[in-house]
Amino acid sequence: MLKDQDRIFTNLYGMHDRTLAGAKARGHWDGTAGLIQKGRDWVVQQMKDSGLRGRGGAGFPTGLKWSFMPKESDGRPSYLVVNADESEPGTCKDREIMRHDPHTLIEGCLIASFAMNANACYIYIRGEYIREKEALQNAIDEAYDAGLVGPNAAGSGWDFDIYLHHGAGAYICGEETALLESLEGKKGMPRMKPPFPAGAGLYGCPTTVNNVESIAVVPTILRRGPEWFSSFGRPNNAGTKLFAISGHVNNPCVVEEAMSIGFEELIDRHCGGIRGGWDNLKAVIPGGSSVPLLPGKIMKEECIMDFDWLREQRSGLGTAAVIVMDNSTDVIKAIWRLSKFYKHESCGQCTPCREGTGWMMRVMDRLVTGDAEPEEIDMLLDVTKQVEGHTICALGDAAAWPIQGLIRHFRDEIEDRIKHKRTGRVSAVAAE
Ligand code: NAI
Ligand code: SF4
Repeated sequence: MLKDQDRIFTNLYGMHDRTLAGAKARGHWDGTAGLIQKGRDWVVQQMKDSGLRGRGGAGFPTGLKWSFMPKESDGRPSYLVVNADESEPGTCKDREIMRHDPHTLIEGCLIASFAMNANACYIYIRGEYIREKEALQNAIDEAYDAGLVGPNAAGSGWDFDIYLHHGAGAYICGEETALLESLEGKKGMPRMKPPFPAGAGLYGCPTTVNNVESIAVVPTILRRGPEWFSSFGRPNNAGTKLFAISGHVNNPCVVEEAMSIGFEELIDRHCGGIRGGWDNLKAVIPGGSSVPLLPGKIMKEECIMDFDWLREQRSGLGTAAVIVMDNSTDVIKAIWRLSKFYKHESCGQCTPCREGTGWMMRVMDRLVTGDAEPEEIDMLLDVTKQVEGHTICALGDAAAWPIQGLIRHFRDEIEDRIKHKRTGRVSAVAAE
């Protein structure tokens, strides 16, 4: 359980002053030059020792990712790109950082860029984030005016520029290589990996793409020490974490908690419990729409909210966007809605995703209304397996996994609907 003094994003808890003066009063931008002057290797090692795993969803170790960047320039510039294209359904944690704590992010950008030998950083912000863009741009302007970024940033001897790029609202531009394409002025279509961005990223140059939360925690980790950060959570699942909790809880919210907190504790402590009580819990998507849902019973009795435990359950922590569904939820329809989303957002460049998302959605159409044949359940599962792992980017997997989770845990409900042709819900679906 996290105490108030252990929170990194204190601005989320009522201290709403996002100005530079407010940030400094909370300890940000304090001794930044001293941290930088400890050197690149020191910063990267501290990040490795902290155990921080990427907060954008995949959980790749951050310090390790930074170490892939070339130590010496081969004539090409290096770049840091911050992925602020937060679009995963249910996910709104980075939004809170940019709204309330923009200086924490900017200071992190400076330190991380220095550690990767990058003199420039681009923040790619989601098109719909208008207010957040304003808050961030104001903070960047303040930082330039105060000499915290720009030439000899914060008196560190490191020259550093930071640019805010506003996206146009495509989910796929949150995929790191599609984001780079978009930043280069092209259509946002994912690239084949490898090469990974550290080898050939923005404009063909060494690039690291990190999530907002991953970068915003960097200054605090360096100030308080990696041991402090890794004292939260479990081995391989370290640190504090923002959880965005939505759906059928009494008080939906974004909170910072210790990694590996129990699900029941998380919900009771911050959300005032499940709507209608714990017996009313039906299912939970624990990490944003790309990860499979889990039945309420597993979540209530056993769940540890971290990468490894949720992976063992064939789900995932993902973006830590916790979507809670009570017994009033039509889970088949909920997953059908996600299928519709992924079909719409597929960029269409690879066949299994372009065609598969359409096939999956059309079968889901029939499952929702109960008009499918019973054998279509296995056929649908087979289609998800044809898509999973056979596409250029993770969107194909993201479209397949929620359906697999639905069939794994709620097959009875699907079969029951087909059997009884519960057409009472048809009109609601058709209305959308
Ligand atoms: P990934 O596992 O392919 O890569 C994660 C990161 O590690 C990337 O930056 C990649 O470049 C790097 N990496 C992986 N293997 C590497 C290697 N061998 N060498 C060098 N670098 C390597 O996952 P991906 O496709 O980047 O992200 C998928 C996740 O994104 C999903 O699990 C989902 O939870 C999340 N997501 C988040 C969204 C959001 O709004 N935050 C939106 C949609 C998905
Ligand atoms: Fe585009 Fe889908 Fe292929 Fe990703 S998996 S590259 S979104 S078609």
